[in-house]
Amino acid sequence: MIDAKEYLKKTSAELDGPIKSYIGNEEPSNLMEASKQYPYRGGKRMRPAMAVACCGAVGGDKSKAVPLAVAVEYIHNFTLVHDDLMDGDEARRGMPTIHVTYGMPTAVLAGDALFAKAFQIICDLDVPADRMRDALRYVSQAVWDLARGQQMDVNNEGQIVSEEVYLETIKLKTSVLFAAAAAGGAVIGGADAKTVEAIHDYAIETGLGFQIFDDYLGIMGDPAKTGKSNSNDIRKGKCTVMVTHTIAALKDQPAKLDEFKSILGRMDATEEECARAKQIMIDAGSIDYAMDMARQKVEGAIERISFLPDGEDKEFMVSLARYAIDREL
Ligand code: IPE
Ligand code: IPE
Ligand code: MG
Ligand code: MG
Repeated sequence: MIDAKEYLKKTSAELDGPIKSYIGNEEPSNLMEASKQYPYRGGKRMRPAMAVACCGAVGGDKSKAVPLAVAVEYIHNFTLVHDDLMDGDEARRGMPTIHVTYGMPTAVLAGDALFAKAFQIICDLDVPADRMRDALRYVSQAVWDLARGQQMDVNNEGQIVSEEVYLETIKLKTSVLFAAAAAGGAVIGGADAKTVEAIHDYAIETGLGFQIFDDYLGIMGDPAKTGKSNSNDIRKGKCTVMVTHTIAALKDQPAKLDEFKSILGRMDATEEECARAKQIMIDAGSIDYAMDMARQKVEGAIERISFLPDGEDKEFMVSLARYAIDREL
């Protein structure tokens, strides 16, 4: 079985050149520097790897999917710059966030610049016009949905929303970009509509598992490994499936429930209080519950692509889905 982490390292090295080739030495230099930060810093590069693999898995020429892969990574990085500003986070990939180093106005503009660049890169796709149009449709829809999902995520802060609303939120803020990468890659590879749809659904389900697990890392991860805080989500009262489950599980334990609620969403909560909130979630079985849910999503994702012919690219798609919920960063 392919080791997704190792395979990602290999594809990441191959995509590194193209990713870094799109920002030159234009003026103003502080905007260029700020815009380069996240794409140059790296990251797991799961979305571009997915785009290329999905193209290959349907029998396409993988080199044709590279501009799409790079564009999706630029969009991902654009959303991270703005997300960190919105979330008030100070670290990303183990280094200061853009607004911390360059200030808020430059962070807004760096995000906008990466967003614009993504669409310039898509223009480099060397595929028939109908495939270009279909890929573009997935990408632009994803950015639109992502904005909706991010707004829902902000609206949910400090609220206890239903599991249904949580799942819709993470589908929009996270899954849709994986889906644009995957479906776009399949389109470029020349897949028929039914195959594209199945690959799209594979990515949606993988993205759900990925974000459920990301929320877990957001509280239980090791900041030295994830490169981001593990207390900020508690202090901000970020609504996750773990929080929703804890509140429901504690309905007959009012004292514990009050204690939990008194920590969640308090920006001045101490590290000890955050640790206590996490322990309450563990004791309530909420972490196990979320992990089960993440596993179900990923197994559903894998099921969706079982009909694809066996080969390295399909194998990677399967291992990538499992890696989405079994990683340290
Ligand atoms: C982080 O995405 C943002 C989310 C959608 C949760 P990744 O975990 O894929 O970030 P990098 O690119 O590897 O840093
Ligand atoms: C990540 O969301 C950003 C997008 C999905 C656009 P989060 O705010 O949940 O993730 P991290 O923890 O900052 O990476
Ligand atoms: Mg964030
Ligand atoms: Mg966020």
